[in-house]
Amino acid sequence: MSYSQLRPLLFRLPPETAHELALRALGLLQGIPQLCRSVRQRLTVTDRRLRQEIWGLEFGNPVGMAAGFDKNGGVATAIAALGFGFVEVGTVTPRPQPGNPRPRVFRFADQETLQNALGFNNSGMEAMRKRLKARRPAGVPLGINIGKNKVTPVEAAAEDYVALFGGLADSCDYFVVNVSSPNTPGLRSLQEVTSVQGIVRKGRELSSRPILVKLAPDLEDHEAVELACAAVDAGAAGIVLTNTTTDYSLVPGAARVGGLSGRVLKNRSFELLERVAAELFGRCLLVSVGGVDSAEEAYRRLRAGASLLQIYTALVFQGPALVRDINRGLVALMAREGAKSLEEVIGADR
Ligand SMILES: Cc1cc2nc3c(=O)[nH]c(=O)nc-3n(C[C@H](O)[C@H](O)[C@H](O)COP(=O)(O)O)c2cc1C
Repeated sequence: MSYSQLRPLLFRLPPETAHELALRALGLLQGIPQLCRSVRQRLTVTDRRLRQEIWGLEFGNPVGMAAGFDKNGGVATAIAALGFGFVEVGTVTPRPQPGNPRPRVFRFADQETLQNALGFNNSGMEAMRKRLKARRPAGVPLGINIGKNKVTPVEAAAEDYVALFGGLADSCDYFVVNVSSPNTPGLRSLQEVTSVQGIVRKGRELSSRPILVKLAPDLEDHEAVELACAAVDAGAAGIVLTNTTTDYSLVPGAARVGGLSGRVLKNRSFELLERVAAELFGRCLLVSVGGVDSAEEAYRRLRAGASLLQIYTALVFQGPALVRDINRGLVALMAREGAKSLEEVIGADR
């Protein structure tokens, strides 16, 4: 059954139920290693032009799974089998928490857009640590996206990040500090220089893993640039641009809750990448996420200065073969332009 046949059935279910079903299917897939291997072989594009070595790790291709799909790190191996070059799990918080009441995920199919107000529903860092100890994708870099618990006062947020850096350092290849989800009260108020620098410095003391900071698209350009520079000055290895947007005017009729992702976020995500790349390209790694839905869009982000890309919403609308299609498309675009490595592509439009 192709995804275009499956999609109408999945879309009859509430979005979160469809998501749970997808997680269950991925769980079954990774329980059958032979099947998982054969899916991986079919969906992974192996081409040396897509390969990069970053932080001493090999990224087989630049397309990663964005945070929020596998919040508990339970199916990272199956996600890797879909052909991703890297996987980011989380957001995980120190203690388990249920998130906001349902319904809390909404689809706008015409606009290939999602709206979510999940609120870091997750089973906590100890459960994630155990899961990743038992099973971690082989040969695919793994990031953990970390956030504070809802009950932790903003003034004490740094303590939550300290606990997460300490508790999960051996479980991942890199960390992403999430200060940009719109669904945890006060979280975005950490998007200021002193807080971000404090968290990054603590992380550097506690773990040798590269630390990235994920920013919101709703910051003013100059705020995003200033914060990104401050994070890098404090030792951040990269910036992830962007999280979901609270610009509800992008979807007429949308309720004023949660954050929007997918096609309506595309322009702003790209614009902010360009702004931040103008200051930081070459000084840190840039990861572009938000509305990436085709090889052409992926190529545009690479040329604007992103070394890595992530996708979430387009996967829901186009299905898992999208990862392979983007990677194949990238190879074709590179061949057309005579690029022999991603290095030649990344930042070429700057
Ligand atoms: C249902 C859903 C849950 C998400 N949860 C998280 C999360 O826990 N942490 C995070 O940093 N981003 C989260 N995101 C944001 C994505 O990682 C990504 O930044 C955003 O969706 C833009 O990419 P996209 O347009 O490809 O979806 C979530 C997005 C969606 C749609």
